[in-house]
Amino acid sequence: MSWVEELASLVTIERSATVRELHSRDVSGHAGVWPDAVALPENAQQVANVLAWANQRHIPVTPWGAGTSVEGNPIPIRQGISLSLERMNRIKEISLPDRLAVVEAGTKYRTLNQQLARSGWQFAVEIGGDATLGGMIANNAAGPKAVKYGSTRAHILGLEVALTDGRLLRTGGRSAKQSCGYNLTQLFAGSEGTLGVITEAIVRLTAEPAVREVVLARFGSVREALGCVAAMRGLDAGAIEFLDHAYMGFLGEIAADTLFCEFHTAGHGAVAETICRAGGAVSVERAGAELWAARLRAYTASQEANPGARLLTTDTAVPVGAFAEMVAFLQSELAGRRLTGYLLGHAGDGNLHVILPWRSAEEWEAVAAFQRAAVQKSLELGGTASGEHGVGLGKRQFLEAEHGAEAVGVMRGIKALFDPRGILNPGKVLPEGGGPGGSEE
Ligand code: LAC
Ligand code: ZN
Repeated sequence: MSWVEELASLVTIERSATVRELHSRDVSGHAGVWPDAVALPENAQQVANVLAWANQRHIPVTPWGAGTSVEGNPIPIRQGISLSLERMNRIKEISLPDRLAVVEAGTKYRTLNQQLARSGWQFAVEIGGDATLGGMIANNAAGPKAVKYGSTRAHILGLEVALTDGRLLRTGGRSAKQSCGYNLTQLFAGSEGTLGVITEAIVRLTAEPAVREVVLARFGSVREALGCVAAMRGLDAGAIEFLDHAYMGFLGEIAADTLFCEFHTAGHGAVAETICRAGGAVSVERAGAELWAARLRAYTASQEANPGARLLTTDTAVPVGAFAEMVAFLQSELAGRRLTGYLLGHAGDGNLHVILPWRSAEEWEAVAAFQRAAVQKSLELGGTASGEHGVGLGKRQFLEAEHGAEAVGVMRGIKALFDPRGILNPGKVLPEGGGPGGSEE
């Protein structure tokens, strides 16, 4: 019996070209690799059974949420099994008194928020992709609202995780405060499916803001725009987004360096307006939902406008006080290297993206060199290679420069503890070579 037939006796599988192709890629520019089979478990026990079996057989397993990653995180680069959580999408409980929801990992965050509509409560992280909660936890996604609510990791109370030895591990619990023992929940947040497969989560619910005041301010220079961000410190901001003039023009809007902000306390929008006018804004207006939707679609819009191109997206995050210096550096690097790049950032928390289309090996070399320069500058400023997209494939090369050999050694030890045979999402997070998580053993 082939291994695929053995797998089919444990779980529903799909082997059609269409389904394998869909699970070969995400929305990033990284090359797709077809899995041999796509497994579609219906419950946590089936996930655990598949892992225990795959571990015995040394078959790679790459978890799959919705394929909305922008860093290659769910690409099964060593083939084997793409483990899709799509059938595990039940919302098991919503408890408003406890301010939490218990969801299966394949539940989309937008579906949870639709269920919560008009309750006054929400899952507070908002991102562009139509992602699953399991995927958001595994990659520690963040997005524009992180300036107020933090990244996904701040919104998890507990997890259920299937391990490679077939155990189902429960971490955390239902209480809002927890200070008892090592924080295993947070170990899995951002582990990108390399330590275990998240099957269920207890997520925190956050009260919807009673007030939303949206301010759109256009400036003649980046310096003026970002000067105003500094002056907004202390306001109850739900988002402080910066989009440079080239990117606004590309979106079909007025080509000005733009701040797009949301405030959650009545009157703070007016204070921000005053700050922007005094800080040199050419125009300030109260904007609506349309631009907000356009902002969330930034990545998709960049891809649609460059059909046939692949995208590389930088994701540096620097201490907020160094954000303006980082923007200036990247703009001068783009100009000096004669590159097209769309610059947009979560100015409120120092996280900045440059989205760069590329079409040939030569263009790839150029955008990759730009990314290396961007990360080097970010690290010099005390920042990181990845604020919210995760390491995936494209940021592994920076792991040691950012954390040092000792910390990466400890990470390898953790990987070896949970996944001694290196079957879980192999080739991700940890740099190649040097044991589990690197190249195949
Ligand atoms: C955004 C994605 C690219 O901020 O992180 O739109
Ligand atoms: Zn972002």
